[in-house]
Amino acid sequence: MTTYLITGVAGFIGSHLADALLAQGHGVRGLDNFATGKRGNIPAGVDFIEADLANADAVASACLGVDAILHEGALPSVPRSVKEPRPSHNANLDGTFNLLEGARAAGIRRVIYAASSSAYGNQPGFPRVETMTPQPIAPYPVQKLAGELYMQSYARVYGMETVCLRYFNIFGPRQAPDSPYSGVIAKWALQMLEGQQPTIQGDGEQGRDFTYIANAVSANLLALNAPAGNVAGRVFNVACGERISLNDTYRLLAKITGYTGAPVYTEPRAGDIRNSLADISAAREAFGYAPVVNFETGLERTVEWCRTQSAAAELPRG
Ligand code: UD1
Repeated sequence: MTTYLITGVAGFIGSHLADALLAQGHGVRGLDNFATGKRGNIPAGVDFIEADLANADAVASACLGVDAILHEGALPSVPRSVKEPRPSHNANLDGTFNLLEGARAAGIRRVIYAASSSAYGNQPGFPRVETMTPQPIAPYPVQKLAGELYMQSYARVYGMETVCLRYFNIFGPRQAPDSPYSGVIAKWALQMLEGQQPTIQGDGEQGRDFTYIANAVSANLLALNAPAGNVAGRVFNVACGERISLNDTYRLLAKITGYTGAPVYTEPRAGDIRNSLADISAAREAFGYAPVVNFETGLERTVEWCRTQSAAAELPRG
């Protein structure tokens, strides 16, 4: 049986990857420190280790005996990293280094890394192509980009098959909706369902290549199984290849949730990126990636999940 280690297994993306690998009959070992993940997200059948990525020994022992690693563990959020850069740095960069050192000592062949589209920054030129020079702005994209460079170094120097997947605004069920650092779709879906007025930071004409979680899962599975010559040491955009404005996102979400209120417009967020749109041809050519769930269907599934969460929260306790 093939066994995979997933870091951040209690988180939004990690737990979906665990579901998919278990459904394919593989073994899954998972690591998480519950900084942002939830115990309830970890599927039954995961060999779970509660540890911090900062704990190099724990990370190294988690790497022993697995066939490949999906490194999703991170302290997400661009604004969080602006407010408190050190915890983000420790989790996202030191944690990634610990993971790579653990993988090297354990002789792991392939590591898939959750990279970020925020590495492109605010430079001109759309869609974003992997050959563009990154221009990260906030600490978070710098950390995520430095992690990519480490991944590529380990591919070149040690022959490890590292693959960097630059996620573009992944959304879907289990993305935390209730933190100040929540992704905009999860946050708005919950607010609209609860009848609270959502906020649009800026004029709402900023755009994102919002990508439903099933697409990110599909990209990971394809990258895990692709020939090394196509993927090792490389960086790939993972997105849908379509830009949607925040205003349009708001309108669609309002329609799906039945919310009729107008948004409050505030100042743009410090360090925010104006637009994001990916060229996804490199992933298609290297490992046959294509989006499997479109934006609107993804929104419907996300709202459906939020409804079940709100309903469960209203059940009497005890
Ligand atoms: C997101 C990811 C980040 C990833 C990046 C690139 C989250 C929490 N962050 O950052 O990890 O690296 O994509 O893939 O998923 N907004 C509002 N109102 C709100 C909340 C947000 O208008 O209540 C706006 C923000 O100002 C921003 C946009 O929505 O313009 C998207 O924000 P957010 O969901 O936090 O994502 P990114 O910052 O793009």
